[in-house]
Amino acid sequence: METVVSGIRSTGKLHLGNYYGAIKNFVKMQHEHRCYFFIADLHSLTTHPTPQDLHANVRQVAIEYLAAGIDPEIATIYIQSDVPEVAELYLYMNMNAYLGELERATSFKDKVRANPNNVNAGLLTYPVLMAADILLHHATKVPVGKDQEQHLEMTRTFANRFNRMYNTDYFQEPHAFSFSKQLVKIPGLDGKGKMGKSEGEANAVYLSDSPETIRKKVMRAVTDSGPTEPNQQKPEAIQNLFTLMAAVSSPDTVQHFDDLYNRCEIRYGDLKKQLAEDIIAATAPVRQRIHEISTDNTYISKAIRQGNEKARESARKTLADVREIIGFRKF
Ligand code: TYM
Repeated sequence: METVVSGIRSTGKLHLGNYYGAIKNFVKMQHEHRCYFFIADLHSLTTHPTPQDLHANVRQVAIEYLAAGIDPEIATIYIQSDVPEVAELYLYMNMNAYLGELERATSFKDKVRANPNNVNAGLLTYPVLMAADILLHHATKVPVGKDQEQHLEMTRTFANRFNRMYNTDYFQEPHAFSFSKQLVKIPGLDGKGKMGKSEGEANAVYLSDSPETIRKKVMRAVTDSGPTEPNQQKPEAIQNLFTLMAAVSSPDTVQHFDDLYNRCEIRYGDLKKQLAEDIIAATAPVRQRIHEISTDNTYISKAIRQGNEKARESARKTLADVREIIGFRKF
């Protein structure tokens, strides 16, 4: 049985990108693998949340994990900061992560560009903490969206470097995983780039959005004046709507609108209406469960408490091994 690790930062409500890039795969994988799904609250500290916001956001991710169908009796759901061993492993891994490679990481460069006044060391070493998360439980499969591919590559680099440095084969190489042929990238509604929490409220459709909100957001999505000749290549904003449709609608529906586009007969209003209804239908069960679970504090805390315990057990074992390998010996 392979081990699976993945996490989501506690930065607010989860959107369709988180769902199709990560959680949907978590739910499918839990039956076949030893799974650890955590809430990355340490990673979310890079943006300095208030204690109240941090707590509310951790709770929100826990609710949405459970609502999406992660079964705490099968998979281990835990909070990253409840397993302090991860911070210790992060410290050790930092010793063989080099400044140049950390500065070259695409996510770091993007963060610096977006917020040049908050370039803290936590942002720089974000991929090292992520490697520690993954290696802590010896995961080989890591279900993530396309934007995390480079971080998985860095995790392999750090794991191999550790192995070489201590002449061991202790850490295995983990790989990004998706059930689809390629890692998923769900686009946003603003016509450019991916769906994300930091790209603006209107750009993302959240799992907890009401049907009315979903309709409003989708109807406002960026389009253009339509194709001018048959079989024209789709501009980014239009392609994005088709990519979203491919995630939530039936292949026949996508084909139908694709044919209309290629014949220059498409009406974007119709496409958006269909897209909104299909998003509403695809997210309905999760939305309903979010409402139910939000008020069930006993269920939430039981799931987290038992997950934390299982995660710590695995983490303690790894850290005992790692200390031994590094050469910390008892006197
Ligand atoms: P976060 O919170 O940014 O994203 C959580 C997961 O959602 C995926 N995702 C997307 N997938 C497809 N299309 C999108 N538009 C989209 N937006 C987000 C991300 O790829 C991710 O899988 N660094 C991680 C959190 C983390 C982690 C780990 C993951 C910390 N340690 C160890 C795996 C293993 C992150 O991106 O969180």
